[in-house]
Amino acid sequence: MVFGFGMPSVLGIDIGTTSIKMVELQQEKGRIKLKNYGEYIPPSSKRELLPVESGFVSFFEEGIATIIKEIIREAKIKTKDLVLSLPVFSSFFTLIELPLMEPKEIPAAIRFQAYQYIPVPIEEVVLNWVIIEEREALLENKIQVLLVAVPKDIIEKYIKIAKILGCNLKSLEIESFAEARALAREGGPILIVNIGGRTTNITIVDNDFVRLCHNLDVSSFDLTNALSKRMNISFERAEEIRKTKGLLKETDTLVTPILVPVIDKIIFGVEEGINAYLSKNPQKKIQKIILSGGVANMPGLTDYFTSRLAIKVERANPFSEILYPPVLHETLEAIGPSFSVAVGLALREFLEKK
Ligand SMILES: Nc1ncnc2c1ncn2[C@@H]1O[C@H](COP(=O)(O)OP(=O)(O)OP(=O)(O)O)[C@@H](O)[C@H]1O
Ligand SMILES: [Mg+2]
Repeated sequence: MVFGFGMPSVLGIDIGTTSIKMVELQQEKGRIKLKNYGEYIPPSSKRELLPVESGFVSFFEEGIATIIKEIIREAKIKTKDLVLSLPVFSSFFTLIELPLMEPKEIPAAIRFQAYQYIPVPIEEVVLNWVIIEEREALLENKIQVLLVAVPKDIIEKYIKIAKILGCNLKSLEIESFAEARALAREGGPILIVNIGGRTTNITIVDNDFVRLCHNLDVSSFDLTNALSKRMNISFERAEEIRKTKGLLKETDTLVTPILVPVIDKIIFGVEEGINAYLSKNPQKKIQKIILSGGVANMPGLTDYFTSRLAIKVERANPFSEILYPPVLHETLEAIGPSFSVAVGLALREFLEKK
């Protein structure tokens, strides 16, 4: 599927643990247009593309690059400008507070604090930070800083993928930041829950700033595994049942009670994230929760989250502000939650960078 001509475009690629999603966007007369999209899902959903090994990413760059090349060829993507995502589970996040100081003094103060908070040697990571302009913090003579550290060897792997692809790597961005750009640019605080193949990410965004980023070791895999074991059926059959029946109330009485305890681990993680955020920002109230990642499509999930958390819950639609041919509406609506990160990555090159 290719449409739109001429203007420069950017390709965002989200290399997930179980699938690769890509979105090509183009800017035309101030509007952002979808030029192309593609996805690769391995033949068996049991297979991992990125093994989640004790929080670090270990994978074979050539193998991933070969798969991406194939999607690019099939989708006839021409642009060489690329933005890639880094998984949350490969990164360290911490919110620190500094006393009010001159802007030029801030980098040294952050580096000094980083030694205390980053659990690996500081020489082995790339440090990045966002200064959050919180009025209340400034009134208290404090500067809030979200500190992010990514191991250098992981960054090198992604640079190598871009090199093998012959692409111009414009940026590397942690998946939650990309997703926040695609789903929660205005208002807030908004909590995004991305339930994917092997991990769940919880992100709180307020006024276009990411405030909190948590990673949970619960995912689609655990839901299917619980069904497969308890019902004594194959993983593939369990996957099918989960996708079609999910948490629907009218479903046979076996499925929902097996899935609920796994979903409740995610709900518990969400509550922990909200409490951590509110303890630092007691005057705030979470305005809504956005369900993202492939599992957001599970029947009954939105209603279950609403009933448990008493907060408005929506399914992610990262394409809502993007121009595309009306004929694609239903498809993009259906695949939206899986593409949140990829859309946010490509958008990065067209919107103001933080
Ligand atoms: N309708 C559905 N109901 C339930 N689960 C679904 C549905 N559609 C897709 N999924 C699940 O979503 C998962 C993939 O989601 P996603 O593409 O967000 O994962 P990923 O990005 O590869 O993983 P991660 O974010 O953990 O790295 C698959 O395990 C798939 O079974
Ligand atoms: Mg993902």
